[in-house]
Amino acid sequence: MSEPLASIPRHVAIIMDGNGRWAQQRGLPRSQGHEAGADSVRAVIRACRQAGVKYLTLYAFSVENWSRPRDEVSGLMSLLVRFLQREEAVLHEKKIRLRIIGRLEDLPPEAREGLARAMEATASYDEGQLILALSYGGRTEIATAARRIAEEVQAGNLQPAQVDEALLARYLYAPDVPDPDLLIRTSGEIRISNFLLWQTSYAEFYFTPVLWPDFREEQFNEALREYGRRRRRYGDVKEREAL
Ligand code: IPE
Ligand code: IPE
Ligand code: MG
Repeated sequence: MSEPLASIPRHVAIIMDGNGRWAQQRGLPRSQGHEAGADSVRAVIRACRQAGVKYLTLYAFSVENWSRPRDEVSGLMSLLVRFLQREEAVLHEKKIRLRIIGRLEDLPPEAREGLARAMEATASYDEGQLILALSYGGRTEIATAARRIAEEVQAGNLQPAQVDEALLARYLYAPDVPDPDLLIRTSGEIRISNFLLWQTSYAEFYFTPVLWPDFREEQFNEALREYGRRRRRYGDVKEREAL
């Protein structure tokens, strides 16, 4: 039986890694690993809803992933389009808002249009948010914010002295989304790979050797239980709610 959850993270972010190795272990092409990974995405969206996690950010494609073989990249983009077509009904039914962080302009037109349409159609929903990181890079996000701030300063709309943490955060991709409480990475890699560099400054990290296609409700709930056992101090000497 499952133990009661001490505290539920408001925002969970996941580096969904290990699709290729999952396929390789089965003698399958990497694309089959990505297809199986899409079922884990569905499972985790459902698990978030059941647990009461309001924000789920999924690292689906990094700015660095463009360097992969062209076939793999186009396979991932077409998987994204098919995923949207199949899952949009769930977003409507459960009143979940879809958002994208990343360089949306880099994506092929079909993916961009599908995403734009689904984002607009779900924009008013407030039961939860599904945030897909696509052509996303943490350094790109911060550099883009810095450039936009510089433009505001140059235009005379902002004084350099006004640039502080809160102001910079307002220029990130999704400024109103609270920082992730829990960051999960599957597949045994212990690194952040340019994901949410700014936003994870006080996130709890959870690394598991489970490959993404094998990461389903049970594994997600185990990560939530582990989160419930953590004691967050934010630099203080005792447990604290937030910074
Ligand atoms: C994660 O799985 C999916 C993406 C990065 C798009 P990988 O494709 O990185 O799988 P591994 O790491 O090669 O096993
Ligand atoms: C991180 O996984 C990016 C995504 C999960 C989308 P990678 O497989 O690209 O990361 P590295 O190359 O192992 O650091
Ligand atoms: Mg990988």
